[in-house]
Amino acid sequence: MPPIPSETPEPAVADAILDWFSQHRRDLPWRRTYEPYHVWISEIMLQQTQMERGVAYFTRWMERFPDVASLAAAHEDEVMKLWEGLGYYSRARNLHRAARMVHELHGGCLPDTVEGLQALPGVGPYTARAVASIAFGRDVCVIDANVERVASRLYDIEAPVKSRQAREEIERRCAALLPPGRARDFNQALMEFGSLVCSPRNPACAACPVAAWCRARALGVQESRPVTAKAQPPIYLTMATGVLVHDGRVLAQKRMADDIWANLWEFPGGIVEEGETPPLAVIREYMEETGLTVNHPVPIGSFRHSYTRYRVTLHAFSVTLLSDPSELVLSAAQEHRWATWSQIKSLAFPAGHRQLVRHLDGDETFLAGVRP
Ligand code: ADE
Repeated sequence: MPPIPSETPEPAVADAILDWFSQHRRDLPWRRTYEPYHVWISEIMLQQTQMERGVAYFTRWMERFPDVASLAAAHEDEVMKLWEGLGYYSRARNLHRAARMVHELHGGCLPDTVEGLQALPGVGPYTARAVASIAFGRDVCVIDANVERVASRLYDIEAPVKSRQAREEIERRCAALLPPGRARDFNQALMEFGSLVCSPRNPACAACPVAAWCRARALGVQESRPVTAKAQPPIYLTMATGVLVHDGRVLAQKRMADDIWANLWEFPGGIVEEGETPPLAVIREYMEETGLTVNHPVPIGSFRHSYTRYRVTLHAFSVTLLSDPSELVLSAAQEHRWATWSQIKSLAFPAGHRQLVRHLDGDETFLAGVRP
């Protein structure tokens, strides 16, 4: 067993990580110019998102919204559509609101301080420090899950990583490691190193340039750091939805602004209640949400997806309209639209409904009954 390091020579550790980064850094699109707008969008996208997926969405986003002005001028539905599939949609709504603020209040230039950045919607301490250091070279450290893991192992932090004690120690340790004037590279180096070498499972200790200083490794506990709280058990939900076609158009509704999946579109429906069957839930939900009477639910398919702790099974049906369409009332949504199929495809839906749209898009019989 290697000796347990008692001291950490901060400059040597920082140099070793910077040196590793100079050899292994990924060629990411926002790293070419460090344009502040690019760094900001990338940091928001990478939260809760794998790097490869983040890069694909980033590239597509920049083709449509190359700068603050184009994002500020966009309609929210289009912003949501580009974000569709990334989840945590408040990120997209906040980006849009923040772009309008930056455009109107700051002439299109992002603030260059942590405080100024943190005043923007959706920009918390993590994002503010990431943009301040990576785009503007400010000497502040950035602590994400990768950095927490690296610090927890290097210093064998035994307190639960989300506890105040651990957070303060990580903050203090990272601030001591940060080489002045090198925050842009150092912060990215720590995150990249955490994701590629000091990974959650099977960390590549044999290839680690700072293994000699790692207390968790010396103790053989690297796999048990950071210490985390027990995962919460999943919550299973059964939902049902109905696709209503009338006169070749499909009824869609835009969800409320203060609800889960806010401002996304969906087909009417909801949670299947205790003792209820999915087809009956669809009929009930149609009456409650739209005032329309529908009947003859015919199964289309079932679609599973997860968000946070929820594991959702969405049962989808086609339904037939019994009411007069003029009886449609807005009660559970902010807008209804009788949409052509291409309009449906241009709207942003949550995961289960998106699978349903994709399924219907391959169903020739269904497509024959709707306006293209
Ligand atoms: N994760 C989030 N932001 C990152 C960055 N700039 N470099 C590497 N990993 C990241």
